[in-house]
Amino acid sequence: MTTLPEPSQEALAVSHRLEAELRRSIEQAGGWISFAHYMEQALYAHGLGYYSAGSHKFGAPGDFVTAPEISPMFGATLAQQIAELLPQTAGNIYEFGAGSGRLALDLLRELEALDCLPTRYLIMDLSPDLIERQRATLQRELPHLAGRIEWLSALPDTLDGVIIGNEVLDAMPCELLHWTPGAQQRGVCLTPQGFAWQDRPISDPQLQQQVQGITIQGDDYLSEVNLNNLAFMRTLGAQLTRGAILLIDYGFPRAEYYHPQRHMGTLIGHYRHHTIDDPFRLVGLMDLTSHVDFSLVAQAGIDAGLDLIGYTTQAQFLINCGISAVMQRLDPEDVKVWAPQAAALQQLMSPSEMGELFKVIGFGKGVSIDWTGFAQGDRCYSL
Ligand SMILES: C[S@@+](CC[C@H](N)C(=O)[O-])C[C@H]1O[C@@H](n2cnc3c(N)ncnc32)[C@H](O)[C@@H]1O
Repeated sequence: MTTLPEPSQEALAVSHRLEAELRRSIEQAGGWISFAHYMEQALYAHGLGYYSAGSHKFGAPGDFVTAPEISPMFGATLAQQIAELLPQTAGNIYEFGAGSGRLALDLLRELEALDCLPTRYLIMDLSPDLIERQRATLQRELPHLAGRIEWLSALPDTLDGVIIGNEVLDAMPCELLHWTPGAQQRGVCLTPQGFAWQDRPISDPQLQQQVQGITIQGDDYLSEVNLNNLAFMRTLGAQLTRGAILLIDYGFPRAEYYHPQRHMGTLIGHYRHHTIDDPFRLVGLMDLTSHVDFSLVAQAGIDAGLDLIGYTTQAQFLINCGISAVMQRLDPEDVKVWAPQAAALQQLMSPSEMGELFKVIGFGKGVSIDWTGFAQGDRCYSL
């Protein structure tokens, strides 16, 4: 077992309360809950879950880093694509899962410089703790734009604008499946030693339907299916009257996702920059995520009436949108600024870091432009 940095007594107390709540949920459900139910509580239980309690989460003092936290060039480059799309809509940006508020800040700064500010910048997040951080960051850095920025507690009935989400799909609770070779749903039960796995026949017709579309090789194969990603795309498809959706996350098309070599699945925990493969450790103190099945996301979007515009790697998308030009704004003589940004660029773009694993998928409805981000190297075919 990996030796991990010790959580504080306060953090452990929160974790123990969350464990007790999860035990109660399992007992009330008759001794078993689905993994998605477990993950939902571990991440989002009111006041106790990873995203609902006070842990730091992002950057060096946190558990993981995301592209907007690595460099403002990420948001500045993404803004080039958004600036093309916004004028074809009512001009709103809807950001899902805004984290620390860093992406919103960088996008708004760049869009202001491009004279293309959104009419409104609307943020939807499930984490009260992060919403507070977003408010503080944006109020401090962009007080003159405060009137345009809003937080929504529920999705409006209609959306007209550009929807964005960086690393949101991976944070949605997923179901676990165990193929032996037939598929069973893996859930969580209680033993005297604590939480334990238990496989059961699949009773949810929606999950059954998804599993039927997956081909597995091997007779002891674990993986995930994310019904929340499906529901999310259905909702966006139904509610978007006009506009575009840009989702950035790590994952693969289906053939790669359910590859024989990935027989242990993609579910992983992140705690202080360590990866942990046992989701029953440090309950509520570590992030839990799974990679995204982009074929599922693409199909769900198409079925919901969206046009699939493109699917490509983060590196290709950022190149297409001109990240080199954004980097060239910096003065190489100013080594203190330039050198860390050159390293950040490498992290965002390198195939061995985020460049290949992270993908960008784009959907449209009622907008007609040639999206710069997908101009070269479109890989829709592999979906
Ligand atoms: C991994 S963090 C990414 C944060 C930020 N986008 C970034 O790149 O730094 C995931 C974020 O998604 C939020 N989230 C997860 N599911 C969501 C949902 N269904 N709607 C809105 N936000 C969600 C979490 O609260 C959190 O802010």
